[in-house]
Amino acid sequence: MRDRDEILRRTEAFVREGMHGEGTGHDWWHVDRVRRMALRLAREAGADPYVTELAALLHDVADHKFHGGDESAGPRAARAWLGECGADAATVDHVSGIVAALSYKGAGVPTPMASTEGAVVQDADRLDAIGAIGIARTFAYGGSRGRPLHDPGAAPELHDSFDRYKASAGPTINHFHEKLLLLRDRMNTPAARRIAEDRHRFMQEFLDRFHREWDGADDPA
Ligand code: ADP
Ligand code: NI
Repeated sequence: MRDRDEILRRTEAFVREGMHGEGTGHDWWHVDRVRRMALRLAREAGADPYVTELAALLHDVADHKFHGGDESAGPRAARAWLGECGADAATVDHVSGIVAALSYKGAGVPTPMASTEGAVVQDADRLDAIGAIGIARTFAYGGSRGRPLHDPGAAPELHDSFDRYKASAGPTINHFHEKLLLLRDRMNTPAARRIAEDRHRFMQEFLDRFHREWDGADDPA
């Protein structure tokens, strides 16, 4: 078994290389923010920092959104990589289990996490989906898929299955109602709930302004 610091260092280099310059908000800097936030939440929640950091680093390798909807690609890639690094079997199982369970799957689909390490990585990933950065990432992703910003005639859908959620192709504003505004109440840890509260408020302000400007109803005079 290799030294833990060495495994972390090699994993960081592997992920950084693979996600560099990605244009939909799933780039290396997303992973880096999730890693830093997850480690911060881990301290408060008492999660193991090694498993937390590995899972944060590997959480978006081979994400279903970029692998034809294949949910098993991510955990498989994490497992293969950690095996190649010589990580111990318990760590490989734990990290790939977290990667498998992490993703948001629709408004009506529960996404339980079995460990504190999983809980803080999921919270960190979800915190990066909301607030100012969340707004920026969402429009970047929508643009990458050729989605309109907004369509007043297209109502948001509260998806009750992962397949339905994955198939949705609505305008980007709908994603706020289908996911982003629901995340505050789905945080696992108290620290994440605190941070989410503030980011949530900012998104609501943004949406209020967006709709006022859309309607031409924002004349400050
Ligand atoms: P998850 O694994 O929970 O889906 P990710 O870290 O992969 O989380 O990032 C998902 C992010 O990608 C969303 O928060 C959003 O910014 C963007 N995204 C995903 N689906 C859509 C969509 N239909 N419209 C706009 N943005 C989207
Ligand atoms: Ni992510």
